[in-house]
Amino acid sequence: MMLSLEDLNINLANYITSKTPDHVVVVTSKLARQFCLNKINDLTNCDIIEVENGEACKTLQSAAFVWEKLLEYKVNRKSMIIAVGGGSVLDLAGFCASTFMRGIPIMYIPTTLLSMVDSAEGGKTGINFKGVKNIIGTFQQADIILNCPTFIQTLPQLEILSGWAEMMKHGILEGHSLWKTIQNGILDASDPNWNQLIEQNIQFKQKIVQSDFKEAGPRKLLNFGHTVGHALEALKLNDPEINHGICVANGIMIESLIAFEIHLCNTEFLNEINSIFNRDFPKITYDKSEIPQLREFIKADKKNDIEGIKCTLPNRIGDVEYDVIVPIELIEKVLLNWISV
Ligand SMILES: NC(=O)c1ccc[n+]([C@@H]2O[C@H](COP(=O)([O-])OP(=O)(O)OC[C@H]3O[C@@H](n4cnc5c(N)ncnc54)[C@H](O)[C@@H]3O)[C@@H](O)[C@H]2O)c1
Repeated sequence: MMLSLEDLNINLANYITSKTPDHVVVVTSKLARQFCLNKINDLTNCDIIEVENGEACKTLQSAAFVWEKLLEYKVNRKSMIIAVGGGSVLDLAGFCASTFMRGIPIMYIPTTLLSMVDSAEGGKTGINFKGVKNIIGTFQQADIILNCPTFIQTLPQLEILSGWAEMMKHGILEGHSLWKTIQNGILDASDPNWNQLIEQNIQFKQKIVQSDFKEAGPRKLLNFGHTVGHALEALKLNDPEINHGICVANGIMIESLIAFEIHLCNTEFLNEINSIFNRDFPKITYDKSEIPQLREFIKADKKNDIEGIKCTLPNRIGDVEYDVIVPIELIEKVLLNWISV
């Protein structure tokens, strides 16, 4: 359910009253605190753990910092942790909550478009380690997620685009109304239609996750764009103009080119994806000398196994398949072509 700011405050107060936790601790980032937490009445006087903005918080050091604070605040299994922030804060806080005392209840209040339509849902938590994205983590659903689309109004356009990329992925997988939404183009941040779009995207993801929580089968569909996307993100970790969704959008485009090379999708599909990509997203480039690094990140991807590199690749709009084994040499060839055109 999408909540107005007023309803968020009411729902939150009711939930806390009904659960009677002995302690409420908030994990947030500086910007999420400034733009969102300060508007949530019941949380401003709680113990607050502030971590770094964005991807920089998904480190072992930040996790240790959160665990230290949980000890200091004497958090126990009757306490409640509330994560207020984007996907990075939610991934970190979810990871810390699921490991501290073998699991403390957590509530998510996502504050970015991406965290509403994607990362808050589905119970994946995690941090990056040795440059590999989300390589340490757990599966643990939040006890409750409160979505307030008003929060997206303070996001820079680059962060709106990041969420839009995951919505494009959902659109390609679903192939009907969600794809139509993407074709129609991005909305202004204050457009009231976001409420419905966010809700539809959440429902789409929930349906897939419910069928395969631990990602043994169909949930792998949601990895479309992420084999190459995560490698780009690891390579460009310190570039402020590049975020998760921009990498996923580029990953979707590059993986579509891989699918074309192995005759899964046709030119018509490529042109359709290309026109949306060119309209909405910046192209990520890299130097030829960085391709070996990308190759190592791709080889370290969690989805691979002894059989080789496993990608989720498209046949056509609304028809995507997972566990497609792709030779690394072919991926390298497409990565080279990408910067040659
Ligand atoms: N767990 C999952 O299933 C899953 C799914 C998709 C993505 N992710 C992860 O999510 C992360 C990306 O999350 P994200 O796109 O939400 O970005 P983010 O959490 O990195 O936040 C981006 C920036 O926006 C700021 N911010 C947050 N809310 C704001 C607001 N309302 N107004 C202004 N600024 C605000 C943050 O402080 C940060 O500087 C990646 O690490 C990715 O791996 C996880």
